[in-house]
Amino acid sequence: MTAVADLKHAHRATWAAGDYAAVAECIDDVPPADLLAHVPVASGELVLDVAAGTGNVAIKAALAGAQVTGLDLTPELLVTAARRAERAGVGIEWIEGDAEALPFDDGAFDTVLSVFGVQFAPRHQFTADELARVCRSGGRIGLVNWTPDGLIGQLFRVLGRYMPAAPDFASPPPLWGNAEHIRSLFAHAGVEWEFTLGYNPWRFASAEEWTAFMETNYGPTLKAREKLTANGTWAECRAEIVALAERLNEARDGSLLINAEYLVASGRKTV
Ligand SMILES: C[S@@+](CC[C@H](N)C(=O)[O-])C[C@H]1O[C@@H](n2cnc3c(N)ncnc32)[C@H](O)[C@@H]1O
Repeated sequence: MTAVADLKHAHRATWAAGDYAAVAECIDDVPPADLLAHVPVASGELVLDVAAGTGNVAIKAALAGAQVTGLDLTPELLVTAARRAERAGVGIEWIEGDAEALPFDDGAFDTVLSVFGVQFAPRHQFTADELARVCRSGGRIGLVNWTPDGLIGQLFRVLGRYMPAAPDFASPPPLWGNAEHIRSLFAHAGVEWEFTLGYNPWRFASAEEWTAFMETNYGPTLKAREKLTANGTWAECRAEIVALAERLNEARDGSLLINAEYLVASGRKTV
């Protein structure tokens, strides 16, 4: 297996680990609605949700009348997505695939969306080129990405200090939360962008409870716990995560409320 395939294999195992569906519930209300407010989808439009996970934005787009395809690297999550879509009464085509090599024709979609999704594919330029390629001329590209300085961006920074370095070809996921990075990735693709910040509320009883939730359910944190427990550094890393959550806590009643920052990128393909 090549190094790239190896890494994708590890990513797939990471996202299948724990209970991503439980995490997705915490981010289902605000970010997908925010994205669809900035990049509305019309009835009958062909929409692609890249790195769809358990289908948060795909299902909302389908409920708005769009004809939706949801693609993800991790088929285990698509099983849950299909169950949720059925419960919501919408038909969506679910496809296992890689954001860096989309199995669709040029210009196949009116709108291409991704919520906290494409930022996790390692080779940013490959992914950007694919998003632009499968979007038709005049179509829309709408992305929601955690920013480097928000809760999840900082969580990845903490984990990054303890975990082995990623291979050279892989860029850090929070970079997609930077507007200039997105502009430069699409500079040659004729996409005009507008950007706005949004905030996802995470409500838990305490920083400790949020950390316990993330180390049990959220693949990247769970995999870090496994690896760092083995080398004896998890306790220290975990204490930093609890401290991070305490530092960002805005609740005044002794519980935890963190409004985690994300970037909404609304693009239009002009060529
Ligand atoms: C944080 S989850 C977001 C899922 C979903 N969009 C949501 O809003 O809940 C990240 C997703 O990216 C997917 N993913 C990671 N690397 C990918 C790749 N190279 N191609 C396609 N999907 C990928 C994972 O399988 C996972 O479902």
